[in-house]
Amino acid sequence: MSSLPPRPRVGLVGWRGMVGSVLMQRMSAERDFDAIETTFFSTSTAGKPAPKIEDCTVFDPVLQDGHDIGALKAMDVIITCQGGDYTKAIHKPLRESGWKGHWIDAASALRMADEATIILDPVNLPVIKDALAQGRNDWIGGNCTVSCMLMGVGALYKAGLVEWMQTSTYQAASGGGAANMRELLTQFGALHAEVQSLLDDPASAILEIDRKVSARQRAFTPEETKHFRGVPLGGNLIPWIDTDLGNGTSREEWKGMAETNKILGLGPAYGKPEIAIDSTCVRVGAMRCHSQSLTFKLNRDVPLADIEAMIRADNAWVKWVPNDRETTERELTPAQVAGTMTIPVGRMRKLAMGPQYLGAFTIGDQLLWGAAEPLRRMLRILLGDVG
Ligand code: HSE
Repeated sequence: MSSLPPRPRVGLVGWRGMVGSVLMQRMSAERDFDAIETTFFSTSTAGKPAPKIEDCTVFDPVLQDGHDIGALKAMDVIITCQGGDYTKAIHKPLRESGWKGHWIDAASALRMADEATIILDPVNLPVIKDALAQGRNDWIGGNCTVSCMLMGVGALYKAGLVEWMQTSTYQAASGGGAANMRELLTQFGALHAEVQSLLDDPASAILEIDRKVSARQRAFTPEETKHFRGVPLGGNLIPWIDTDLGNGTSREEWKGMAETNKILGLGPAYGKPEIAIDSTCVRVGAMRCHSQSLTFKLNRDVPLADIEAMIRADNAWVKWVPNDRETTERELTPAQVAGTMTIPVGRMRKLAMGPQYLGAFTIGDQLLWGAAEPLRRMLRILLGDVG
């Protein structure tokens, strides 16, 4: 199904940032640029030469102004990783100007808007196709934690087996942005430097090392901790992500239920009951992979072998990790998954609470399936190449 002219004009905004750079890498790797005429936009350096990207036919040799509604209107598709403020400033005037093109966006600003579809096609291609058939043209990438979780265990939802789910997350520094990753590493370095001479001496006392590390963590300056709101992440964790909704939950936790249901086409807007999902979202000192410990209540007792078969068959990226110590330690860690498209699912077992209760653990690279990949795949869907 394609609703685009041959070699559509595609405008890219926010291609220099972290998610944008990952998107460029993935589009090059998959030769997406072969099928489109690309125009690069900038919100700060319009008029400068457009970047040279291998295999990318650039329509405009100079960077166009990302605030120029006229220039944006010439695009058949706009893909933006520029962030929510840009979306809030540009999307409405662009639509009000009569632009009917496809807006593909990594930011959360429009996600829950009625007219917007959250895109995660290995999980919700039918929802995307329905929206296309209805003439929808706002396609928004999901929250990284939600998208990675559904890539791993979406099979259970698709099979209608989930009565409720609870997730405790272990979210990487990259979810806060590039500066947060740098801050984490700088803190690790400062902590190491604080005790280097003691570490070099095998006879030194571990409690002395620990005391000095704790003292250094508590003495980090506002400058050393500014990206995590004054709290050290190195050697620490922070059990709150995003704004406080004032009802005991964070915005990140709220997204778990709201977005999962919307992605799956559940809830009042679809005339179907929602599935209850509770989250406790925690920032940890990983670099770019979000991990999650999941508890499900299934609506019936399903043999583990059937669950394994469903998850294995669900999509090409999910990887079943047998629930034993060796395989788990080798394959189910952020360090192993970072920079890959693989979504491992492991620690799957029936819980002591009863045969309908299931425990699991899953990991995803939050810059790939959690951010960039669904965007470029939506472009492919519009080009008629997926599904
Ligand atoms: N909100 C996520 C996080 C990243 O802070 O980890 C964006 O989805």
